[in-house]
Amino acid sequence: MSIYAKLRAGLTTASAAESRTVAMQFAMNLPPTCTLALHGDLGVGKTTFVQGLARGFGITAQVTSPTFNIYTVHRGSFRTLVHLDAYRLETAAQIESLLLEDFLNPPWCLAVEWPEKISAWIPPDTLHLDLGITAAERHTIRLR
Ligand SMILES: Nc1ncnc2c1ncn2[C@@H]1O[C@H](COP(=O)(O)OP(=O)(O)OP(=O)(O)O)[C@@H](O)[C@H]1O
Ligand SMILES: [Mg+2]
Repeated sequence: MSIYAKLRAGLTTASAAESRTVAMQFAMNLPPTCTLALHGDLGVGKTTFVQGLARGFGITAQVTSPTFNIYTVHRGSFRTLVHLDAYRLETAAQIESLLLEDFLNPPWCLAVEWPEKISAWIPPDTLHLDLGITAAERHTIRLR
């Protein structure tokens, strides 16, 4: 079963390490330019998922939440990862002033936390992932 099929069916993970492994496998099978919208509440594992993506792109630097600087650019051996946290953005228009496009040299992946804050800006071909936590405190990941 491909990682896409598994993610479309919905995966449950028992640890952050397991979530990172899922994300790493996904990273290795993404198209050369892609935007990922990571939906889900506080603490569901959006940043943890991006840490796994980074590993799949050959990024060795530590990936942390970019909440205070809005976005972070990581150049890996296999592609550039732009990690955007839209939590503090008020309007989609604000994103134009960030000059994000300047960092999107192929191959790239733009991973967006809190995409609903800038839904008007999110490209139509974006892959949307829904993250959550179950009653049993397991974390879920599903590709729309
Ligand atoms: N199965 C799991 N998958 C992902 N994270 C897990 C899992 N089990 C435990 N965790 C823990 O849950 C926390 C998830 O935090 P993370 O920062 O990734 O969430 P977030 O969605 O980015 O939150 P925020 O909205 O504040 O940015 C981490 O501390 C992680 O170690
Ligand atoms: Mg986060």
